[in-house]
Amino acid sequence: MNFNYLILSYFDKNKRDLPWRDTIDPFRIWLSEIILQQTRVDQGMKFYNNFIQEFDTIFDLAKADEQKVLKLWQGLGYYSRARNLHFTAQHIATELNGVFPSNFTDLKKLKGVGDYTAAAIASIVNKEAVPAVDGNMFRVFARYFNIDDDISSPKTKKIFWDLGMEIIDQKRPGDFNQAVMDLGATICTPKLPKCDICPLNESCEALRLNKVLDLPVKLKKTKISNRFLHFIVIENDDKIALCKRNGNDVWRNLFTFPLVETTTDLLDKGFVLETELDDNLSFISEEKHILSHQNLFIKYWKLNVSLVEINNLAKDLAFEMISFNDIEHYPLPKPIEKFINKYYLD
Ligand code: ADE
Ligand code: SF4
Repeated sequence: MNFNYLILSYFDKNKRDLPWRDTIDPFRIWLSEIILQQTRVDQGMKFYNNFIQEFDTIFDLAKADEQKVLKLWQGLGYYSRARNLHFTAQHIATELNGVFPSNFTDLKKLKGVGDYTAAAIASIVNKEAVPAVDGNMFRVFARYFNIDDDISSPKTKKIFWDLGMEIIDQKRPGDFNQAVMDLGATICTPKLPKCDICPLNESCEALRLNKVLDLPVKLKKTKISNRFLHFIVIENDDKIALCKRNGNDVWRNLFTFPLVETTTDLLDKGFVLETELDDNLSFISEEKHILSHQNLFIKYWKLNVSLVEINNLAKDLAFEMISFNDIEHYPLPKPIEKFINKYYLD
């Protein structure tokens, strides 16, 4: 039995019933693929359905406020994907007359669409025989074919791409790619693969050689940095201070409390703002928030100041006082959302 026959029969019997699998509308397929780069299918469905409910077509997404798009993306993280999504919708609506490209070459020209996403869309929508090389594909292929090249090396991608090009099912390329994704997500998983029930177990090389957990090989660990963030909570009546983040950093264009970043952990108050206002700070809580390449050590400080001082500070720190009633319209990073829910909205 060969790989294609086995994995396609598996897909035919077990394919997951997902809302973007009953359409070949490239807008919907694109949206689902961008979301699924950020989260697993079970979580992703909720986000996908929320987006589709708001934006039925690429034009609806194109004319939306960025803030609304970020709000719908809230919780998925990596917000540049949401900004690219919006940018690309506008580009297609205005420059391409609303016609979503469906071939691999043209798809790749879109902002935020790389080899993986272009191949996924082109194979599903256009039946183009191009392999969607992602983490699932690396894992399933590395194991089944016993490939021990280091997947953290950029050169290795070509090895998997070439093999994918060679074997991808010419009649059903979209199903082939999605079958690999489904198998990788549900059976050939990273830590506890279910080889006993895997449809490929009679011909899988890694299983035969008893090296399933040694594959795929990944030598380079991603570098993680530690950051120390101090959020300053300033409130007055039913309002709280929020600033829009800018610059090229995490959470760009989202809203947070006024922020002071320090290079080391601070043991006590007194050094956060480095002005006499430090005397008015009281510690509220702390947490560690983990992003893909950063550990964020977050402390929340309440700044007890009068309305006059708030107005003076606002000029320096560029925050706005936002009413709790309006806060649902503001895209917030996960820790800020949790904090506000915990202390103010419950
Ligand atoms: N992960 C990313 N894209 C997917 C798809 N189309 N089906 C299943 N899992 C996926
Ligand atoms: Fe993956 Fe195990 Fe199936 Fe091989 S037999 S493809 S290692 S789940």
